[in-house]
Amino acid sequence: MSFIKRIGIITSGGDAGGLNAVIKGVAREAYAHGIESVVIPNGYAGLYNLVDLDKVVVLNAERVSRIEASLSGSEAGHSRVKISKITDQNTYERIKQGLKKFGIDALIISGGDDTGSVVVDLGSRGIPCVHVPKTMDLDLQPYSVGGDSAINRISQITRDLKTTGMSHSRILIIEVFGRYVGHTALRGGIGAEADCILIPEIPVDFDIVYDHIKKTYFGRIERSDVKSGTYIIVVAEGISTSSGELLYDESAGVDAFGHKKLTGAGKYVRQQIEKRFKADPEVKEFMKKVGMYAPGVYEIPEAREIVPSHLVRSGSTTAFDVNFGYRTGAGAVLLLLEGKTGNTIVDVSKNKICYMPTSDAIKRREVDIADVALFESLGTCFGRKPEKFEYELLEAKMPIGRHL
Ligand code: F6P
Repeated sequence: MSFIKRIGIITSGGDAGGLNAVIKGVAREAYAHGIESVVIPNGYAGLYNLVDLDKVVVLNAERVSRIEASLSGSEAGHSRVKISKITDQNTYERIKQGLKKFGIDALIISGGDDTGSVVVDLGSRGIPCVHVPKTMDLDLQPYSVGGDSAINRISQITRDLKTTGMSHSRILIIEVFGRYVGHTALRGGIGAEADCILIPEIPVDFDIVYDHIKKTYFGRIERSDVKSGTYIIVVAEGISTSSGELLYDESAGVDAFGHKKLTGAGKYVRQQIEKRFKADPEVKEFMKKVGMYAPGVYEIPEAREIVPSHLVRSGSTTAFDVNFGYRTGAGAVLLLLEGKTGNTIVDVSKNKICYMPTSDAIKRREVDIADVALFESLGTCFGRKPEKFEYELLEAKMPIGRHL
């Protein structure tokens, strides 16, 4: 018989798709076991200040039904607060007092690597927690809710921008979130059939990008009967040079977790392209050949960077993330009931509840470069000399693959 009568739900870090499904999954599964669940608002800031609240929101059936799982963001709210960084020596005691005040026996906390590190920290101080993986960056070991939604939004935004790119025959550089990994840029970029995708895992060689532009974009416009065409680059915000120097705007500062705010990669890419256009005599010839040249006004093609910023993780959630959010929210409750605290729910598949220690789940997962070579062989530029797609054959065994 579990001692848990009341669970506190926290969402932390950046908002993302699927979090409301996580909340609903937790609340409904808990309810089915006669356990109450409550919202601890505003992420870890709210946990720190819980003791000062007059009341907490109980997620009873009526309240839960008012949460829309298909909307991104979180009904529980967010903050980027790392508990161990709060300059109050009494922090952990204060948190325990807050939990005691509201009779909260355990926490289910959804977030990314920073959030997970706090789950480990709280666990080591005797606060039972289970972690639900969430980050649009997809940089955790297991899949994290919000990733699929972000990929789809990046794809949609990029596809939509093509009409502007085509109309103006512009090169469009779409800078997307993703922190130090390129999972969402890669998959979102492929989803939109971007010409070039630049990710942190591959240091960018701008001469190679430039050659690809000349071959692809110039040829496209030359072949077009109305002499129009665009070239689409999706760039992850965390790209760097081969010496590991980040290509971002340092003046953006740091967030509350103490991480560099990464922005400026798109601008950097644009400047690199413009520099090469200006120095290349063939560009003027091309502009004249396709009837775009206007002396003193329009001598090189236009390149523009677009930063959709938080649009890539806001708005609506994909059905995949709603499914995953519900499954893992419910699975997290079952893990708690089984006494598996300090763990991350990985998935619930058929009648298997899969989990792993949170300390392992939050280890950074980068794009496997083997995934890139196939797309290089199909013509996408990744800012490096294309590599051969090396493969081996594997006969699939029944049952095949992962099914929703
Ligand atoms: O970690 C998720 C993420 O969207 C990153 O990709 C991005 O760098 C960061 O959050 C932006 O955070 P904020 O919402 O604090 O600006």
